[in-house]
Amino acid sequence: MKIAIIGAGNIGGNLARLLVKAGYEVAIANSRGPETLGELAKELGSNLHPMDINGVLKFSDLVILSIHWRSLDSLPVYEVSGKIIVDTTNPYKADGTFYDLGNDIPSLKVADHFKGAKIVKAFNTIWYKHLAESGNSSLPVAKRRVIPVAGDDPKAKSKVSKIIEDIGFGSLDTGSLKEGTQFQNVQGILYNKELTVREAASLISTGR
Ligand SMILES: NC(=O)c1ccc[n+]([C@@H]2O[C@H](COP(=O)([O-])OP(=O)(O)OC[C@H]3O[C@@H](n4cnc5c(N)ncnc54)[C@H](OP(=O)(O)O)[C@@H]3O)[C@@H](O)[C@H]2O)c1
Repeated sequence: MKIAIIGAGNIGGNLARLLVKAGYEVAIANSRGPETLGELAKELGSNLHPMDINGVLKFSDLVILSIHWRSLDSLPVYEVSGKIIVDTTNPYKADGTFYDLGNDIPSLKVADHFKGAKIVKAFNTIWYKHLAESGNSSLPVAKRRVIPVAGDDPKAKSKVSKIIEDIGFGSLDTGSLKEGTQFQNVQGILYNKELTVREAASLISTGR
């Protein structure tokens, strides 16, 4: 299966490594152009395709977005009707504090730039070093490190959950974008916690 990634830093770059290792073909874009992704291409071989954003959006119907939330303003508006956009972002400012959005969902800003997308919130709760190192496909899913997913489209969520399992983690559906964001956002009970799927499910059921 083909997967696209926008952002080639801590999260985007490590996801590319994990996905190529799991047998996926991956296209990836950063802000400076594909020629600046030579090192990663050399490391990952022929299943890693550096491109620009327009290229990666054509490459796959599943696109992982991993740039800074505040950098969304630098993007134009793309028409991506029907595509899945996996939103890994958290609304941090450059100084490390985060924007107070009140009751607004951070993913709404993503929806503004990717019109018609089915948005799935995932990979935003896990520190990049844990993402790189704590997957373990030999464990049963309930005992693996959790990567929660939220979204309003069940089929889109199940596609993302399959990817999460393919790279050695376990997914947990936290509900709609609105419901799931409460658990997954920077102040949520699942944010940056080293939990298994079973532990996270238990925390959610008592925290609801
Ligand atoms: N770091 C973590 O542990 C962690 C954990 C969970 C979630 N997150 C979230 O994941 C997102 C990425 O974090 P990160 O730590 O991976 O950031 P990072 O290492 O700074 O990487 C950001 C990437 O975004 C690219 N980028 C910026 N503007 C772009 C644009 N207009 N078009 C295409 N690419 C663009 C950058 O490309 P250039 O280098 O070419 O500018 C860079 O490859 C953030 O929203 C963060 O909150 C991070």
